[in-house]
Amino acid sequence: MNRAFLFGVSFSIAACTPAPAPQVLTWHKDVAPIIERKCASCHEAGNIAPFALKTLADWKAVEPLALDAIRTGRMPPFPGRESCAEYSPTQSLGADQRDVIEKWIAEGSLEGAAADFAPLPGAVDRLTRVDLSLPIKEPFTPTQSPDEYRCFLIDWPFDVPKYITGYELRPGIKSLVHHADIFFLNPSHVPTWEARDAAEPGPGWECYDIPLGQEGGWIGTFVPGNRGVDFPEGTGLKVPVGAKIYLQIHYNTLNAEIGPDLSVLDLRLEDKVRRFAGVQAVSDPRWITADTMAIPANQRDVTHTFDIDPTRFSSIINQNFVDGRPLKLYATTMHLHQLGQSARLEIKRADGSTTCAVDIPRWDFHWQLAYTLKEPIVINPGDELSVSCTWDNTAANQPVINGQRVVPRNRNWGARTQDEMCVAGIYVTQ
Ligand code: HEC
Repeated sequence: MNRAFLFGVSFSIAACTPAPAPQVLTWHKDVAPIIERKCASCHEAGNIAPFALKTLADWKAVEPLALDAIRTGRMPPFPGRESCAEYSPTQSLGADQRDVIEKWIAEGSLEGAAADFAPLPGAVDRLTRVDLSLPIKEPFTPTQSPDEYRCFLIDWPFDVPKYITGYELRPGIKSLVHHADIFFLNPSHVPTWEARDAAEPGPGWECYDIPLGQEGGWIGTFVPGNRGVDFPEGTGLKVPVGAKIYLQIHYNTLNAEIGPDLSVLDLRLEDKVRRFAGVQAVSDPRWITADTMAIPANQRDVTHTFDIDPTRFSSIINQNFVDGRPLKLYATTMHLHQLGQSARLEIKRADGSTTCAVDIPRWDFHWQLAYTLKEPIVINPGDELSVSCTWDNTAANQPVINGQRVVPRNRNWGARTQDEMCVAGIYVTQ
C-alpha cells in the first residue's frame, strides 16, 4: 500500500462522516476541571475560603456571587499584572476559561456525565511527590493576638548532600497559619539559632528575623491556598550535611480556630540535579543598616528603588555559581508589609530596555504569591535587577488592630509587622 492510496482512503472516510453535532458544554467535562484547578485549593472543607466549590450544587448555591467575583477579578486572588509576564502554573483565571463558564451558563448549565471529568492539562500547581515529611517537633498554640511570629528548627536527617526539588507546607490548622517562610541553615550557623531556641520555653521562639546571606538558603514561602510546588524541571536546592530547617510561621488569630498547630513540611528530594539553583532575598543593604527606607507619616506614593547587577554576586547566591556569568531567573516573589501600595521587579538591560518579572499594582498583604515564569529570564552581566516598592502611609491605609485604626507615624525598615520591608525573592540558576 502506498501513501497516496492511504491518503485517498482517509480522505474519503472523512468526506462521508456527518458533521459532528455542535459541542455543548457540561459541568463535568468543561467547568469542573477549571473550578478544581483554580478555586478548590482554597474552597474546600476546612480550608481558608468560607465555602466549598467542588460539586455542581456547591457552585449553584453561590453562582451570582461567584460570577461577579470572576468578572471583576476578585477571585481567584491573583494580584500580579498579567501583561507583565507569563506565569506557569498560575492561580489566575484565563479569559478563555472565564468564557467557558459564561457560555456554559448561557447554554443552560448542563451537568453531563461525571466520567467526562479530566484535570486541566498544563503545569499543576502542587507538589507531585513527597519523599520526606518533616513536622515541627511539638505542636504550638499561639498566645498573642492578632499576630504571632514563631520560628522552629527541624533536624535534617541525611548524612549525604540532598537536593530539594519541590516543597509543600501543610498547616496543622489552616485558618490559623497566615503565612510561612521556609529556609535551611548552613551548619556553621546552626548553633547561633539553636541558642535562640533554647533561650525560650515551649516549642520554637518568638522571632521576626530570618537567616540572611551565608547563614542559610531560602526554600520558599507558603500562603493559604498553596498546594506546594515542584521546582523547575532539572533544578534544585542543595542542602548540606549538618543543616537544619528553619521555619518561620506567622499565626493570625482573627477568625481562626485557636488550638495546637502541628504544621508539616513535605519535600521532594533528588540525589543529583542538572542545574544548582539558589534562592536569594534582594534588598538594599542600606535600608537595613542605615535606615534609608524612610516612609513619612501621612504620605502616599512613597517609592524606594534598588538596582543591582546580581551576576557580580552570584557566588553569594550559591557557592557553586561563578561571578560574572549570566543567571537565569525562574521565579520571584515580593515581600512588603501592611502599608504596601504597589511592588515591582524588573530587569533593566544594558541597552536601556526593560523586562518585567512581576508587577503588583495593588499590593495585598494577604496574597504574597510566588510567580513562576513560563520562560526563565536570562540576566546578563551589565543588566540590573530593579526592586521597587511604593507605600501608602495615609490614615485611610492604616491597619486596624484590636478594633482601632492605627494613627499614621513615620515608618522604616524593620522585621515586625508594624515596620515595613521591601524584598524581592528570586529563584535562579547559572
Ligand atoms: C488562594 C485562595 C483562593 C482561591 C484560589 C479562590 N478563592 Fe474565593 N475566596 C477565598 C477566600 C479566603 C475568601 C473569603 C475572603 C474574601 O472574600 O476575600 C473567598 C471568597 C470568595 C467569594 C465570596 C466573596 C466575594 O469576593 O465574592 C466568592 C464568590 C469566591 N471566593 C469565589 C471563588 C471562585 C469562583 C474561585 C475560582 C475561580 C475562587 N474563589 C478561588 C480564597 C480563594
